[in-house]
Amino acid sequence: MKEVKVALLGCGTVGTQVARLLGEQAEEFAARSGAKLSLVGIAVRDASAPRDPAIDTALLTEDAESLVDDADIVIELIGGIEPARAHILRAFAAGASVVTGNKALLAAHGPELYEAAAEADVDLYYEAAVAGAIPVVYGLRESLAGDRITQVLGIVNGTTNYILDEMTVAGLSFDEALAQAQELGYAEADPTADVDGLDAAAKCAILASLAFHTRVALDDVHVHGIREIAAEDIKAAAASGHVIKLLANARRREGGIELSVGPTLIPVDHPLATVHGSFNAVVIEAEAADRLMFYGRGAGGAPTASAVLSDVVAAAAHKVSGGHAPRELIYGALPILPPAETIARFQLELAVEDKIGVLTEVSGVFAKHGVSISAVAQNYVRSDKRGETCRLTVTTHEALRRDLEATLAELEASSFVAEVVHVIRVEEN
Ligand code: NDP
Ligand code: HSE
Repeated sequence: MKEVKVALLGCGTVGTQVARLLGEQAEEFAARSGAKLSLVGIAVRDASAPRDPAIDTALLTEDAESLVDDADIVIELIGGIEPARAHILRAFAAGASVVTGNKALLAAHGPELYEAAAEADVDLYYEAAVAGAIPVVYGLRESLAGDRITQVLGIVNGTTNYILDEMTVAGLSFDEALAQAQELGYAEADPTADVDGLDAAAKCAILASLAFHTRVALDDVHVHGIREIAAEDIKAAAASGHVIKLLANARRREGGIELSVGPTLIPVDHPLATVHGSFNAVVIEAEAADRLMFYGRGAGGAPTASAVLSDVVAAAAHKVSGGHAPRELIYGALPILPPAETIARFQLELAVEDKIGVLTEVSGVFAKHGVSISAVAQNYVRSDKRGETCRLTVTTHEALRRDLEATLAELEASSFVAEVVHVIRVEEN
């Protein structure tokens, strides 16, 4: 049986589990790929740091470059842009295939990497980069190659889903829930990438590129994180039969594609509403297939290692029998709509003066900017840091974001609105 030399870069949350499973299930991987997978080294920052007992410390090295130069398959689980990018390009130049879970790198430098892999005639696989264990990259790239995708809507960040869930179900504070997510290995090395929506935006860009055969970069995605979501917002959502989820939304409509990540109100009977903890789910709307939903663990060492290893098996099979991973397909070349041109429903919470005529004033501003209201609720008065205020919760029909922004600007400048407390996107079933 042919030997395929595997170099692992990174031995943290995910890398440790990849090394463990490669050792524990060596015979099965050989049977599935047709190659004996030999782990020839593990590159880390500090080879003397304590490691999980499953790690053979004799394999550890701080010299990633020599390891890469001698490998058939390089697994990149360092994260971040450099030196991960340089190591991957070096691997391609040396004729090695690469498996990575690095969505930040793919969203920033995807085209360069896809082109380098194609030029070297080797594989670039990245199933673990989106939604952990869920085979959604494979689903879009291969299983749905016979269909036209119209929308990808999903919970693609385990950390923020865990935080929102723990705030909802267990009543934890934001900081307590984030600390738990870090402890459990879900969060990025810098968890602001999770909390501020950038990790989900990178995944949104990758999914949209695959769904619409169009190059999409991180900067193309309109991003909003979950920092401003307070326990009282979650309670208010529950009272109206909704939950708040951080959703990535990539939608094709006339004129181009819309891309956003942000906290979104969804009804409790929406298929994404029951996705709890670190689980992720992605709903795909396709013209012929209709609606599909992919569900599973979106973060954590072992679930992510499962996705990494499926790519390793595929890349190893190509080393033995020939063939290569699907190449980047960008024939769609659809325009990316600027945020102002996107269309959505919104819910606004306004702190207003409690006086005669205020409803007329507020609704007049919406009408002036062409934003149609679907519902208004008046809630008396909550004691919080803003003191005693009267709250109006206004839900709109679908509106152009540009018109909504103009409405908000006028409301904020008006004498009858004390504060726009929040604006949140609304998604129906
Ligand atoms: P960790 O921070 O736990 O591990 C990073 C590893 O990379 C460590 O072993 C570290 O070495 C090593 N490393 C860092 N810098 C260098 C360097 N310059 N040279 C050599 N080695 C280096 O990260 P994760 O395992 O959580 O994530 C790895 C990748 O997988 C990231 O791209 C992440 O986005 C992605 N991912 C993570 C998921 C998760 O749930 N954690 C899920 C899906 C994808 P040392 O141990 O010595 O510090
Ligand atoms: N930090 C990421 C998350 C890891 O929480 O989803 C999985 O990509």
